Amino acid sequence: MMYRGARGLSHHVLQAKMWSNSSSLQTLRGFAFNIYEEEPRQEATYKGTSKELAEAIFQQHADGAVLSAGNPFKAACTSLASEYKELGAITNVALEGRLFELMDKTGDGEIVKEEFINGVENLLNPTTPRFKNLRMRLDSGRVGPIPSEFKSVKKVAIIGSGVAGLQTARALGKIGKECVIFEKDDNVGGVWRSNYDSFGLQVPKELYEFPEYPWPGHVQNGHFPTGPETQAYIESYAKHFDLHKHIRFNTGVHQIQSTPDSGWKLRFGPKDGPKEIEEFDFVVVATGMYGWPPHIPNVRGQEQFKGEIHHSCTFTDASVCKDKNIVVVGGGKSAIDNAVSGAKHGKSSTLVYRSAHWPVPRHLCNLVPFKWGTYSRFGHFMLRPYHDCSNVAWYLHSMLTPVKWVWWRIVELMFKTQFGLPKEMMPTRPIDIDVFTGGQILNYEFRDMLKSGQVKAKKGSLEKITPEGVVLQDGTEIKADMIVFGTGFTKNYDLLDRLLQNKLNLEKDGLYLYRNVLPPRLPNIAFVGSEISTFNNILTHGLQAEWLARVLDGKIELPSSGTMLHAVEFEQAWKRSWMPSTSARASIFQLHMMKYHDSLVKDMGESHRRKGWNILAEAFVPYNAQDYSPIFKR
Ligand SMILES: Cc1cc2nc3c(=O)[nH]c(=O)nc-3n(C[C@H](O)[C@H](O)[C@H](O)COP(=O)(O)OP(=O)(O)OC[C@H]3O[C@@H](n4cnc5c(N)ncnc54)[C@H](O)[C@@H]3O)c2cc1C
Ligand SMILES: NC(=O)c1ccc[n+]([C@@H]2O[C@H](COP(=O)([O-])OP(=O)(O)OC[C@H]3O[C@@H](n4cnc5c(N)ncnc54)[C@H](OP(=O)(O)O)[C@@H]3O)[C@@H](O)[C@H]2O)c1
Repeated sequence: MMYRGARGLSHHVLQAKMWSNSSSLQTLRGFAFNIYEEEPRQEATYKGTSKELAEAIFQQHADGAVLSAGNPFKAACTSLASEYKELGAITNVALEGRLFELMDKTGDGEIVKEEFINGVENLLNPTTPRFKNLRMRLDSGRVGPIPSEFKSVKKVAIIGSGVAGLQTARALGKIGKECVIFEKDDNVGGVWRSNYDSFGLQVPKELYEFPEYPWPGHVQNGHFPTGPETQAYIESYAKHFDLHKHIRFNTGVHQIQSTPDSGWKLRFGPKDGPKEIEEFDFVVVATGMYGWPPHIPNVRGQEQFKGEIHHSCTFTDASVCKDKNIVVVGGGKSAIDNAVSGAKHGKSSTLVYRSAHWPVPRHLCNLVPFKWGTYSRFGHFMLRPYHDCSNVAWYLHSMLTPVKWVWWRIVELMFKTQFGLPKEMMPTRPIDIDVFTGGQILNYEFRDMLKSGQVKAKKGSLEKITPEGVVLQDGTEIKADMIVFGTGFTKNYDLLDRLLQNKLNLEKDGLYLYRNVLPPRLPNIAFVGSEISTFNNILTHGLQAEWLARVLDGKIELPSSGTMLHAVEFEQAWKRSWMPSTSARASIFQLHMMKYHDSLVKDMGESHRRKGWNILAEAFVPYNAQDYSPIFKR
């Protein structure tokens, strides 16, 4: 059901009569629904036998005595799907094709009435192996309606024990849900367990903190924790809240299947060991954005390369660079860090990037911590307006557009000067747009190495890999003994059957969800941390987990599935109107995180203005996790 382009008609009630051109079908059913607030409401139900219903559907869509392949059969399948809950997935084009084949006994490419009626009967109560097979496939795509309350949810499966999974278990544990965390590895922490050489936080500790569990006192504000320090902090969080008792380590989830009562059946087990199956009322996917699977572009000649090929996430030990010429591919934070490691430990290091991105310094003008410019409401106001902005705010933003334009050019000049950006490393996108491709906060190591020639940077894309190195599209050859792809990560939804993936509405620019947590058309499943990216992810995941706990606890009443879909489409249109087109655009919030956090906090019925009565602090002082900690004390 699509509600596109219908904004402003929110109280318009559509009356639609199905089956209007067949007298026998007029008895079947009609609709009356508000296009925003409700799913279609069933008004009359057909009372005949399945045979009579099949005949009626045939007559509705047949052309004379036959039902042809293509649109007529497609329409008949849509009718079957709406009449029979168990056949809901038959509108999938592949299954529809298979059904046609099975029904068309004579194989003449047309279906007569008897063939259709027999086919429907066989689909409802399959007797032949081929019909049984098709029914099994349909059953795996069957889901119940979206629940409006979650009282029956007792047992929750959480997939992943990174900061998202752990905070979800903590939040759901507080409301008495029985949680099981499945973790494919042998420890908590996710990306912080192990990563590339010298990895660490790109923000100071006060901007990456559990709202419920501050860093230990000896870690000072302004300190940028290393990877192992961050991992130790996460481990101590898990220990402090006694979360290990919920975790099944070395237990990957391999498949999630829906059950007829809107629950989920999980298939899990060690990577190469036997698998088990267990049922849960609710599933939380907390498998992360930047952990797995790595994205390695398919470049010609990879198999002939004589040296080693790594992705940033497997480049954990820089001693492998010794005496080697390293080529690092990519222009994001990982690639830049990997190029620095390559230069420190190898013979030479060259960064090959296809587009330059704006680096953000740790201190603006080498004086003021960057958080004062980016994590405050004033800093946020200088961005493009958020989609929920009031008319007055829109007007103000429009009036101030020239001022904001000048502001960002000054920021660019400041960063260009601080980093001494050479001409070929000047990003082509304005900074206030470019930060929404990922963002990178850098110290001056890369800048200084570039200046001294310790690291080389070459703009371009790989044409091919040869046994001795790489060739760029402009013909430049670079000798390499080792190639590191700092080319980011992709997403994979194969845990879910393809029919269920259809219900997620996956788009080229990612997975759009209600509040980036709930899919409006799949019941009893949530995504925490795995479909969101901000500059303070640990806080964002904490707020998502708390929001979800309040939904399951009945403290937040969800709108109808239709209203959620509308909200999702509205946000999607807003993002597509200005945000760079990437495969993760649906998840990207980055500097708009403050407004995203506001929406979660407002849903919880809490004040989104977290600085109390101090108006100046509210406007200018950076927001951090501690501002939200009272929300978690309950
Ligand atoms: C090097 C690096 C630095 C970063 N720095 C910052 C930063 O400074 N600030 C910031 O805000 N963010 C940063 N991030 C983003 C970071 O991804 C998040 O901050 C956060 O740690 C993600 O947590 P998560 O729990 O969502 O996912 P992950 O940490 O990816 O955890 C997911 C967990 O799920 C498990 N899992 C996955 N699939 C399955 C399965 N099928 N079955 C069972 N278990 C499974 C994984 O083993 C993993 O333990 C950084 C990321 C990287 C890679
Ligand atoms: N705290 C930290 O220190 C830290 C460290 C690492 C990562 N992170 C975070 O983790 C996330 C992921 O970062 P990341 O750097 O791993 O990935 P990323 O931000 O997704 O960057 C991937 C890079 O690879 C390039 N790329 C992708 N496909 C390519 C291809 N086919 N050919 C050439 N180049 C290609 C992209 O180029 P284009 O730009 O042209 O698309 C981009 O520059 C980010 O949010 C980042 O902030 C943080």
